[in-house]
Amino acid sequence: MADIEGIKILNLSSKKRAKNLSKKYDIPLINSKSAKTFISMGDKSILHFENNKLENSFIAGKFNTRIKQHQSETILKKAVGWQSSVQKHILDATGGLGHDSFILALLGQKITLLEKNTGLCILIEEALNNLPNLPYFNNARDNISIINKDSRAFLTSAEHFDVIYIDPMFNSDKKLKRSKQMEFLANYLAEYDDPSIDFYQTKFKRMVIKKEFRSSSGIKDDPAISFKGASIKYDVYL
Ligand SMILES: C[S@@+](CC[C@H](N)C(=O)[O-])C[C@H]1O[C@@H](n2cnc3c(N)ncnc32)[C@H](O)[C@@H]1O
Repeated sequence: MADIEGIKILNLSSKKRAKNLSKKYDIPLINSKSAKTFISMGDKSILHFENNKLENSFIAGKFNTRIKQHQSETILKKAVGWQSSVQKHILDATGGLGHDSFILALLGQKITLLEKNTGLCILIEEALNNLPNLPYFNNARDNISIINKDSRAFLTSAEHFDVIYIDPMFNSDKKLKRSKQMEFLANYLAEYDDPSIDFYQTKFKRMVIKKEFRSSSGIKDDPAISFKGASIKYDVYL
């Protein structure tokens, strides 16, 4: 798996944030021209990898439509057992760009997001930081804690969470048309990892696995229930 060599500061206004992120994630500030995989921080924060670029905004592009319609995420709500009056604590074991976590946070859930790739953790931090100052965004941001670790570090505490949420997503048997972001992630991360079998062997209350329709699972047992959407499904184990 590739990961960033450091953070490049492009303008003065991003210097303080870059320094904080460099400290939090123990990643150097760099100015070398030879760096191939890095995050540049200027007006936008961009992950660079082999001349390809990845941005992560929660308020632009396709994801913004999901944000605006987050109350209509019916199958996701059913999968995590959402109740309007209860705040569940969800462990997102495959954080990625933080999109699913952010939808769940907007739906009032408390999220511990685990992502083992440092570059992606910083892109999530930046997407959260660039949200407009609005109460529902501020509440959602406060609901998310980001931890840069292999989620297997949480196997022994799985039972303390109401839901373990896992989206490995690169395991399709059929060639699906991928978004540019997903294409970037597949090349950048290169090695496929799926911690679901490890979590399945622990004590957990509820585990939700997001899958493309025909993807195979390492878990041989049938889920207690599946919720199907247009191209993906959520398998729920209890
Ligand atoms: C398909 S992406 C998840 C996308 C995410 N659901 C979203 O909405 O943005 C899968 C992510 O899981 C991460 N991942 C895979 N195995 C992991 C593990 N054992 N611990 C932490 N992160 C892991 C990968 O680095 C990758 O970023």
